[in-house]
Amino acid sequence: MSTSPRSRDLLERDSEIATIETVLSRAAVTGERIVVSGRPGMGRSALLMVARDYAIANGWNVLTATSSESTSHVPYSLLTELLAPLLTPIVSAESVLAGPSTMLRQLASLASDDGELSPASVAYAVRAALLGLADTTPTAIVMDDHHWADSESLEVLGMLLNPLADRHIAVVLTVREPWRPHPVLDEFLASPLTLTIRPAALSIDAIRTMSADAESILERTGGVPFYVVAAVEGSSVAATRVAAAIRRRLLARGPWAARAAVATALCMRPVSRQLLRGTTGAPSVEIDEALRELEDEDIVTVSGGVVAIRYPMVAELLPQLCSPAELADLSDAVREAERREALRAINPLVGAPLTEAG
Ligand SMILES: Nc1ncnc2c1ncn2[C@@H]1O[C@H](COP(=O)(O)OP(=O)(O)OP(=O)(O)O)[C@@H](O)[C@H]1O
Ligand SMILES: [Mg+2]
Repeated sequence: MSTSPRSRDLLERDSEIATIETVLSRAAVTGERIVVSGRPGMGRSALLMVARDYAIANGWNVLTATSSESTSHVPYSLLTELLAPLLTPIVSAESVLAGPSTMLRQLASLASDDGELSPASVAYAVRAALLGLADTTPTAIVMDDHHWADSESLEVLGMLLNPLADRHIAVVLTVREPWRPHPVLDEFLASPLTLTIRPAALSIDAIRTMSADAESILERTGGVPFYVVAAVEGSSVAATRVAAAIRRRLLARGPWAARAAVATALCMRPVSRQLLRGTTGAPSVEIDEALRELEDEDIVTVSGGVVAIRYPMVAELLPQLCSPAELADLSDAVREAERREALRAINPLVGAPLTEAG
């Protein structure tokens, strides 16, 4: 069995890579399932690629798909991408343009006369296609960012997992923690048949092999590989790459999340929820929701009502996400909220509603 060439580039992943390759080697005999799960930037996709490369190096069939927030509401988008090598010979150009549902309808029509498009009919057609594919050659189904999978595809995959469990099919997928609960995903992750791998943050020793400045890089990045790689590179291009990823994560969240995150970064210290409410002008419930979202995105930590940016590197980059006008506006709001908080520390009546004197 060949190993993956990519595995040589990954630091402190020897045991994860060995586990993936051992489990996949079993999949040549029976079905196997692996989940790589972790916080943003922990190196989930890199380990998924190890699995994909292993399958390619060993001459397997490989079906791959990456889910994203933008396609998470497009029915069957994941399945259509995954099955592209099987669909291409059978679907017409018009149905490609018409989108995933129409393409799958053509696949389903191979399995049922009326081409009915229900998860069950699609599952039936996909099962037949996969069994044909995996009949003689093991097949790897490799899915990145499965937490964004559209629910129709998830439903079909849920129907397929058990019937395909004893075939030469390996299902390897990544999910980001915490994921949106979904019965199929939850069952897949909780199943005793699923092996879960959680890549850890890189240690100082690993960072030392990349940079002489390891202590400071570990302090700024928490050892999260995505940030470490950018910090080691140290270029403006690397900083822009990280800033763009943070922007994407913030934009996917509600309207107050970005403002609360930048305000916290501008304070350059842990801040109270109350200060963020004062700064952003958001109602309490909205700021609480924004902070929950920012915790899910691994951008802030909230402990005992105190909010801090999780990684100094992210705090450095957050102000760059605003326009100069937004930044000036937010800086003024932060200063004013800090002034009121300092005054309140001296006199708790500052900012309290005026009541009629008795
Ligand atoms: N163990 C490692 N050693 C060295 N570099 C690594 C390691 N793991 C990941 N990387 C690098 O860190 C960066 C981020 O990794 P990757 O994209 O796999 O993370 P992710 O968890 O999938 O992130 P996202 O949350 O954005 O999907 C990539 O450049 C990758 O090559
Ligand atoms: Mg990834």
